[in-house]
Amino acid sequence: MSALMEVRKTSRDQLESLQLQRLRSTLEHVFEHCAPYREKFEAAGVAPDSLKSLADLAKFPFTTKDDLRAHYPFGLFSVPREQVVRIHASSGTTGKPTVVGYTREDIEHWATCVARSIEAAGGRPGDRVQVAYGYGLFTGGLGAHYGAEKLGCTVIPMSGGQTEKQVQLLQDFETDIIMVTPSYMLNIADEIDRQGIDPARLKLRIGIFGAEPWTPAMREAIEARCHLDATDIYGLSEVMGPGVAQEFVESKDGPTVWEDHFYPEVIDPDTGAVLADGEEGELVFTSLTKRAFPVIRYRTRDLTRLLPGSECVMRRMAKITGRSDDMLIIRGVNVFPSQIEELILRFPALAPHYQIELSRAGNMDALALRLEGQPGVEEAEVQQQLGELRNQIKSLVGISCAMELLPEGGVPRSEGKAKRVVDRR
Ligand code: DLL
Repeated sequence: MSALMEVRKTSRDQLESLQLQRLRSTLEHVFEHCAPYREKFEAAGVAPDSLKSLADLAKFPFTTKDDLRAHYPFGLFSVPREQVVRIHASSGTTGKPTVVGYTREDIEHWATCVARSIEAAGGRPGDRVQVAYGYGLFTGGLGAHYGAEKLGCTVIPMSGGQTEKQVQLLQDFETDIIMVTPSYMLNIADEIDRQGIDPARLKLRIGIFGAEPWTPAMREAIEARCHLDATDIYGLSEVMGPGVAQEFVESKDGPTVWEDHFYPEVIDPDTGAVLADGEEGELVFTSLTKRAFPVIRYRTRDLTRLLPGSECVMRRMAKITGRSDDMLIIRGVNVFPSQIEELILRFPALAPHYQIELSRAGNMDALALRLEGQPGVEEAEVQQQLGELRNQIKSLVGISCAMELLPEGGVPRSEGKAKRVVDRR
């Protein structure tokens, strides 16, 4: 039986009893083997046996990125360093990288979660999978790679970049599935056009897109343009890497959290209170199966809601609306780049590439939106839609912004995670 069929068969009761058992074992493991966790538990007056039910997890203290920084590089590992077979790190924009480690068994679990994710996306053993997430300290490339191999796929380890070659291999190797950031997929789609290839004639049938926020409008645009099913994969290095949650191709209704490996909560980011399913707040994860670097109530900063399972009993997360630290406050108005993306994609004369620039004129924040017209569309039409977009941003988001129309290729292209915001304030 395939790994995914087992997931589909599991009942909610079976899942919850497995979660409770794994949660206890994880709490005991960190309490025994990781001094910083033990100290935090003691300071909060809790011990592993304080957990009698899943709801008791709320008594335990949160872990934040600051805790990871304070114990840089290996201080939060819960096994002797010699048992760690792999290190990954995420660069972040400032300061020290966040370092994570995996035992051999952790890598196995990770591969299982990614294999299951590819299957949920519609992949099957024997499919050719082009991995265009970066290989290296970033978890995207190697995480996708091990999972695709585990499912029995033929892996094409392209990594990010070399866009011309990406397209050549899509064509020559008859790639079935591409795993890549959605912004880099757009870049690859431009190159497919530039080479005069008809995307409908490529074998490519599935995209597994993640590592950055992308809107439903972006999904529609990519699907129409590239003739594939675009599915959402979510993850973060602190919790594992790609494959913490994945959308099913049948429903495309938000990523299903692989709840037998990661216990999700959504909290009020200001008070820390656990919110009911369906309410929007900050996503928090507790590891259920990791040994080298389990996290207890790790605050992701990602804003979303937990939704009931649709394809199986495991819960889904709504598409991430943004990160609490991505939120721009422009003249007092809270703005997420995804709101702007959603509007840009309403205008067919505008290309989907964009960048937001913030600056300060005197005491006032100024926002400029850099865009390009769709190749081949008359400038007058582009200008007219640009004006209309500006009006919509003003009335729907509540901010005025200057529109900067750049020539084709003027907006920097991404080969991994897109840099949507340049803050010069
Ligand atoms: O981006 C892991 C990954 C690789 C996920 C490949 C999916 C595919 P980090 O570099 O640690 O890890 O960044 C994690 O990226 O907290 C979210 O803010 C964002 N993110 C990841 N996936 C999605 C997604 C990888 N599907 C951070 N939608 C997370 C929205 C996402 N944001």
